[in-house]
Amino acid sequence: MKRILITRRLLKSCEEKASKIFEANFNDNDELYSQSKVIEMSQGCDGILTSLTDKMDAETINKLPDSVKILSNFAVGFGNIDLEAAKKRGIIVTNTPDVLTDATAEIGILLILGACRRASEGIESARESNWKWSADYLIGKQLTGTRLGILGMGRIGQRIAKIAKSLGMIIHYHNRSKLSDEKEQGATYHDNLKDLLSVSDVLSICCPASKETVDMINKETIEYLPKGAVVTNVARGDIVEDEALIDALNRRKVYAVGLDVYKNEPNLNSGYLKHKSAFILPHLGSATKETRTAMANLAIDNIDEFFKTGSCKNKVN
Ligand code: DGY
Repeated sequence: MKRILITRRLLKSCEEKASKIFEANFNDNDELYSQSKVIEMSQGCDGILTSLTDKMDAETINKLPDSVKILSNFAVGFGNIDLEAAKKRGIIVTNTPDVLTDATAEIGILLILGACRRASEGIESARESNWKWSADYLIGKQLTGTRLGILGMGRIGQRIAKIAKSLGMIIHYHNRSKLSDEKEQGATYHDNLKDLLSVSDVLSICCPASKETVDMINKETIEYLPKGAVVTNVARGDIVEDEALIDALNRRKVYAVGLDVYKNEPNLNSGYLKHKSAFILPHLGSATKETRTAMANLAIDNIDEFFKTGSCKNKVN
């Protein structure tokens, strides 16, 4: 039986599944392991089931025992893992695509609705019972007829596009390449970021974090947005330069933001906390029972497939 380290707690049924297939080291207290703890705990292990909270940078990967052959990330994103460093050490990295598309797209839509319809302010007022209905009370932005710019039209972006279209939004997108007509579903393609941003009344960031996308939404690119645009991010915090976005909110260049992901989670920039036009969630993208179960099972299956066949269809490096 292969021995694996599972760095964070999984739902019970998934831990049971893992213990049937592997000799699994569980993290019973769901402690947030430091990098040195991951190295220590992985001694004698053949693989590690990592989570997005594990920073598997080159230094950490280089210190893993030689026995570790796979890092199976419990997420579709893998910005927490240095893919090249893993490859150099002959370690494969896998992720959990598809199974979280619907749940994450739901949160993507919630961010759009929450930011456009001033949900943060509304919730606060309702809780404090200090509101008085009037014709112009908490007037927000209606989605019908509004242009939605999707940055990164992968699985999640396409799903958000489909739901947003049913809400009457007009879809634009930017990707490395144009999608087929079937996947595009009538959306307008822009081959560069500037063109996409200039038509984005609402922006939905859905692209993976990579060297190319870090700080892609920054002081300069924010200026391409129409005045009063809404910026939402369901992908990764690294894509946004926080200071620039907060500054844009403060000077009303940006009307509102809807965010589920941040740089340095969970310590998000305090500028968002203070801002009434920031609709913020604590990285809930995939947080449903069905999805977290499917993700963990897939992360387990990825390890199993790798040890049985020497490869894995969800390999990303
Ligand atoms: C992912 O899988 O990358 C999601 O962000 C997890 O919620």
